[in-house]
Order: sequence, then C-alpha cells, then structure tokens
Amino acid sequence: MSKKKPNKRWLHEQNSDFYVKQARNENYRSRAIYKLQEIDQKDKLIKPGMCVVDLGAAPGGWSQYAIQQVGQNGQVFALDLLDMEPIMRVNFIQGDFTENEVEQRLLSEIKQERVDLVISDMAPNLTGIRDTDQARSMALAELVLDFCHKVLKPGGDLLLKVFEGAGTQEFRQELGEHFSKIMTRKPYASRDKSREFYVLARFYGL
Ligand SMILES: C[S@@+](CC[C@H](N)C(=O)[O-])C[C@H]1O[C@@H](n2cnc3c(N)ncnc32)[C@H](O)[C@@H]1O
Repeated sequence: MSKKKPNKRWLHEQNSDFYVKQARNENYRSRAIYKLQEIDQKDKLIKPGMCVVDLGAAPGGWSQYAIQQVGQNGQVFALDLLDMEPIMRVNFIQGDFTENEVEQRLLSEIKQERVDLVISDMAPNLTGIRDTDQARSMALAELVLDFCHKVLKPGGDLLLKVFEGAGTQEFRQELGEHFSKIMTRKPYASRDKSREFYVLARFYGL
C-alpha cells in the first residue's frame, strides 16, 4: 500500500499545534516564544547581562525567553497596550507605544541605561483593509526606529516584525543607513500563510 504524502497545509497545521503544545508544556505564555528562540539560536542575539526592550510584549513569551537569556545581571523592559501577568524581574509598562507620553514613561524607566537589543512583535489592530493595515504597520515600524535612535548602544541590534507589502523595501533601506547589517528572518514557528516576517538589523551606528 502506497503512503500518501501529507499536504503542506496539513503539515503546517500539525506544526502550529506542535508549538502551542510545546509552549504549554514548557510553561511559556505564547507560541511566539519559538520565533524568538529560533532567531536567537541562529543569530546569537541575547547574551547574559544585556539590556533588552520588548515592545508589544503581551502575553509575555518573548519577555520570558529574554529574561532567561540575560540572566541575573541583565534587564528586560516590556511594554504593551494590554495588561500582562507579571514576570519576575521584567519591568512592565502598560500603554500605547504610539503615544508620546507612554514612550516618555518607558524612557524614564530605562533611565540612562543604554539598550543592547530592541525586539518588537507589535502589530497594529487589523482593519481588514490591506493598504490601511500595511500603512499602519510601517508607521509603527518607523516609530520603533525612532525609539532605537534614543536608546540603542552603538553596536546594538533591532528585531522587528513587519508585514510584506508596500514600504517594506524602503524601510529596510532606511535601516541600512543606521545599522551595518540588515537580514530577513521567517522563523519556522511563523505561519506560512501569514505575511509577517522579521527584520533583523545589527550593529547600530557602526
Ligand atoms: C503578537 S503579540 C506579541 C506576542 C509576544 N511577542 C509574546 O511572545 O507573547 C503583539 C502585541 O503587540 C501589542 N501592540 C500592538 N500595538 C501596540 C502599541 N501601539 N503599543 C503597545 N503594544 C502594542 C498587542 O497588544 C499585542 O499584545
């Protein structure tokens, strides 16, 4: 009897379930953690003692991972529109990153600390109108880049979620003016059907 090859969609759905189950088994709050983990394992982004800012952090998978990796001497500042269950040693701020007052609160928490890595998994609330959603996503990305100018150490890195579409190429070029290496990452845990991908910009100001 010949075995039927499983189709891609079936495999993918199995895969998604796999990440959900794994997150549950490993006490992570979201399957999103495996996206960061995969990128980190490949690119060696997060090291002990680092200061990391996690934008769009709830429910907290990336922050859980980041605080484990930076260890006792590191720091993680997390921000989200939504409330987030506390994570030990993660400094959380609730608010809308697009509001100046919220960004100021975050900056004052960070104090004079220079940041090694900014990670942003933020996505705007979707309207379903593709052009509008894309424009909002790019506007958010620009705000994150502005924030990097305020906090990143020379040599610091940025990992940012974007959606393939108008403006992404120009945005990558803009990043290239400030970071010495720009890469694209589509981790295995990111659903194929999603237009999301991650831009990894390394070595700020070098
Ligand atoms: C995909 S989830 C992040 C998942 C997270 N990385 C994890 O591992 O659990 C995206 C988050 O971005 C947040 N977000 C979107 N726009 C935001 C904004 N303007 N300010 C703050 N948070 C925002 C949403 O509330 C949502 O919780």
